[in-house]
Amino acid sequence: MFSHEQVVVRRGPESGLPIVVAVHSTAAGQAIGGCRMAVYPDWRDGLDDAIRLSAAMTDKCALAGLPNGGGKTVIAVPPGFTGDREPALRDAGVVIDELNGAYATGPDVGTGPDDMMTIGTRTRWVFCRPVEAGGSGDSSPATAAGTVAALRALCEVRFGSGDLSRRSFAVLGLGRVGGTVATLLAEAGARLVVADVDESRRALAEAIGARWVSPDDCRTAAVDVLVPAAMGGLLTPASVAALRCRAVAGPANNQLDAPGTAELLHRRGILWAPDPVVSAGGIIHATGVELRQLSEEAAMAEVAAIGDTLAAAETRVSPATIARDRAEAARGQVPTAQGQVSEG
Ligand code: PHE
Repeated sequence: MFSHEQVVVRRGPESGLPIVVAVHSTAAGQAIGGCRMAVYPDWRDGLDDAIRLSAAMTDKCALAGLPNGGGKTVIAVPPGFTGDREPALRDAGVVIDELNGAYATGPDVGTGPDDMMTIGTRTRWVFCRPVEAGGSGDSSPATAAGTVAALRALCEVRFGSGDLSRRSFAVLGLGRVGGTVATLLAEAGARLVVADVDESRRALAEAIGARWVSPDDCRTAAVDVLVPAAMGGLLTPASVAALRCRAVAGPANNQLDAPGTAELLHRRGILWAPDPVVSAGGIIHATGVELRQLSEEAAMAEVAAIGDTLAAAETRVSPATIARDRAEAARGQVPTAQGQVSEG
């Protein structure tokens, strides 16, 4: 089913790179979602990613109670590309600007506040410019703080205590968000195993006293909580069968390969906190500061409330069910026959 309002694919005139801007929904308000700049074997993989990720942003906004819909930009970098990033970012800015405010972008995998300045030379529809430039700055600290609030709530429900120092975690992915989550967990006294495909992240593991393992060993580590903080699609029927953790919660987008995989986790007795709830800290902070003029403290208090959202949901039914029902209600959609959201 094609449920997107519009998907624009353009060869950037300056960069020659494929630029995809997907607007899933503006029913609740302006569509928001980050600009991902990543290597894709084929540009069509980037198109698929934009389609999936923008639909997930609609759920994320609805679950966070924001008056926004979902969108996403993907700059599909071909393997072996050695060109500059600025021309591609300006190309993305031009496409975004042509949508006349239907969609506003922000940072995502492969982009940060400086890149928002570059996009911002072509459009005003940009969140998270550096603080010195009048923006709300990097969104990753807020996304990480929201994730840790979610982990506390999850531990409270699953293990009867939100005390992180009593728990072990496997953090898969030490990028801007995952690296900060791991650091916060280490500061809270948790036991940690960590992994990243990028060997250079090993230095962070050493600095925070975490055990560095391979991504495969991280996924199947015998820990209390697995924290997916890398790319999506981690949870499949095969990977769920191999899990040795007791709960899963992390900031990676689109963790399930298909909605039905949540049920497989449930049957294995593994509590899963839905990623659109866990990962909403960045958009809560950015829209709070930039649109609602909240102070830094007030915005971070809203980010911390992600824990309450999860805890309240869990006392009634599984968080996956709550997330789905609330997203559907906010989107004014009727559940499908299987009771599953059909996209994202
Ligand atoms: N990449 C994040 C997201 O997609 C952060 C973001 C912040 C995006 C602000 C847009 C605006 O959720």
